[in-house]
Amino acid sequence: MKNDLFLRALKGEIVDRPPVWMMRQAGRYLPEFIEIRKKYDFFTRCQTPELASEITVQPIRRYGMDAAILFSDILVIPQAMNIEVQMKPNFGPYLPNPIQTQKAVDNVIVPDVNETLDYVMKAITMTKEKLNDGIPLIGFAGSPWTILCYCVQGQGSKTFDKAKEFCFTQPIAAHELLQKITDTTIAYLKAKVRAGVNAVQVFDSWGGMLSPDDYQEFSFTYIQQIIDALKDEAPVIVFGKGCWFALGGMAKSGAAALGVDWTCSPKNARYLTGGNITLQGNFDPARLLSPPSEIKKMVTRMIDEFGKDKYIANLGHGILPNIPLENAKAFVDAVKEYKSPTQ
Ligand code: CP3
Repeated sequence: MKNDLFLRALKGEIVDRPPVWMMRQAGRYLPEFIEIRKKYDFFTRCQTPELASEITVQPIRRYGMDAAILFSDILVIPQAMNIEVQMKPNFGPYLPNPIQTQKAVDNVIVPDVNETLDYVMKAITMTKEKLNDGIPLIGFAGSPWTILCYCVQGQGSKTFDKAKEFCFTQPIAAHELLQKITDTTIAYLKAKVRAGVNAVQVFDSWGGMLSPDDYQEFSFTYIQQIIDALKDEAPVIVFGKGCWFALGGMAKSGAAALGVDWTCSPKNARYLTGGNITLQGNFDPARLLSPPSEIKKMVTRMIDEFGKDKYIANLGHGILPNIPLENAKAFVDAVKEYKSPTQ
């Protein structure tokens, strides 16, 4: 691979500068993405390998990040499990038949992912061809808890109160659903690795909704199963939004790297994780609205605080749709231009 900086950082090797990519980099702030969106609905874009691979490489062509992330969505998993998922423009995910009873859980299937999600594997093959061994490709999945949130709530939410109610009033059914999602996710991520992704990231976007004890019971137990099943096949990155309280346990999980959001300082993240594991993050996505010169200063400070080694520069969550193109460029360039104070 021509540029393996990202994989070297995941292994904890000494590097001249940290690698950089941005969560949700293939997306709505790019005019070339908006052009494609005008012509094809969301799941058509996900299910058509030509489109998914093209959208994946769009940000790379423009900014030259050190890793690409496959364009897809975490919700292709419940879809493959026979749960209807729609993506409504200006609304987000909508599941018309939320899973709220034991009977509904019984009806959820664990599919053959090679069949139902074959389009994802084809998109990976096609993306690898386009990347031409230039940079690594990241595959991803939602954490079982985050997927359960959408399956039970039926849509996005500020509190995911119905998802929590389901777990706390029908824990047996909730655990059965989480296990079915976990089994599907493990098979899915293994298939992605076989198809060619070089690392996988688990997005626990709603882990921070749970108390530390409930997080262990309803989220991390299942993430741990995913790490155990995948870690010998590809490096696993775990990103839990709002999950700083779980970083200590995560550091001992076998994950290659941990994502950190912007509410946790680099110093505290290093402290909580014992200072040895690769960390990824944590620029406030809204800070990309600051002028480019200020972004560059803040990025340099962020790298100084995390340290250039065992570190992957990224945002603390997905890039926002209203970020000016030159501001995204300032973020990526600042990392690429980074000079360590000791060099
Ligand atoms: O560049 C990349 O990171 C790859 C693409 C990617 C998408 N979704 C494409 C997408 C990734 C990694 C995701 C993950 C995802 N999807 C998460 C976890 C990451 C996070 O941000 O917390 C979650 C919670 C979802 C579920 C989801 N998908 C929501 C809540 C929405 C609507 C809100 C929104 O962000 O627009 C989506 C739709 C979606 N997924 C879009 C994109 C580019 C926008 C809709 C569109 O393009 O029509």
